[in-house]
Amino acid sequence: MEHFLDISGFSAGELWQIMHKAKELKDEYFAGGNKPILKGKILGMIFQKPSLRTRVSFEVGMLHLGGEALYLSPAEIGLGKRESVADVARVMSGYVHGIMARVFDHEHILELAKYSSVPVINGLSDYSHPCQALTDVFTIWEHFGRLEGLKVAFVGDGNNVANSLAIAATKLGAHFSIATPPGYELPEQAMAEIRQAAAEGGVDVTVTHDPVEAVSGADVIYTDVWTSMGQEEEREQRLKVFPPYQVNSELVAKAKPEAIVMHCLPAHRGEEITDDVADGPQSLLFPQAHNRLHAQKGLLALLLGK
Ligand code: CP
Ligand code: NVA
Repeated sequence: MEHFLDISGFSAGELWQIMHKAKELKDEYFAGGNKPILKGKILGMIFQKPSLRTRVSFEVGMLHLGGEALYLSPAEIGLGKRESVADVARVMSGYVHGIMARVFDHEHILELAKYSSVPVINGLSDYSHPCQALTDVFTIWEHFGRLEGLKVAFVGDGNNVANSLAIAATKLGAHFSIATPPGYELPEQAMAEIRQAAAEGGVDVTVTHDPVEAVSGADVIYTDVWTSMGQEEEREQRLKVFPPYQVNSELVAKAKPEAIVMHCLPAHRGEEITDDVADGPQSLLFPQAHNRLHAQKGLLALLLGK
């Protein structure tokens, strides 16, 4: 395991390896604390966008494992502006043992990895959010005890979170359905990767504009904001198009009675998800958010623990 850029770069076996490590470290943490397996290791965290979960869970995760983390805010680095992405990667590689970056342009993650001599972790790009998807499949596994044979339904924008979730879930044997408004489907490249992952997992992928079709018979209903970071100027237009894709109690009732509801957060309550669903008995939103810490510890242990 060299970098963690996209779920598509990992086999089902490798994803299970990270998840089992995460489970082991989560159990160890709650049994009294983690051993300092990353003592002396420093994670450099580059952020071009805001963050609560990614920033805090990576920083706290490093501390729990005996290491340290360094937060570099959007104002500080000027990735690709003050200095080329390649030079940032070359310089950082001499200071830290791993780089976690949240960027606008997915190409910048690929470029960081190309020129870095230490592991690079994608902490969200416009194309994918693999740390979130790793957490999501970990959370589904914890809840149901398996991924195989489940149906995971995503309702909303065909965005970075939907892309990574689809690849992770299908690789691990869950069927996947997605309902987006026309014009907001997943990009072609993502669909190609999802179809390949689904073939590996031996599962079905359903692409529709009908949210009821997507959630019918689903074990997991997942949604995300209608306007992602970097798309703010499209917000007014998106608010006109997306309301039929709201995850509310009426839509949740179309899934299996034991279905769970997930959201990567932050949520725009009253837009893509209603309060009664977000705070209701089927919601796993906060255990899911807390699992960012545990899932990423598994990743950090395997990437930086060598
Ligand atoms: N889900 C997630 O990545 O949250 P943040 O944007 O707060 O990091
Ligand atoms: N799709 C959202 C996810 C935030 C965690 C965004 O990119 O802004």
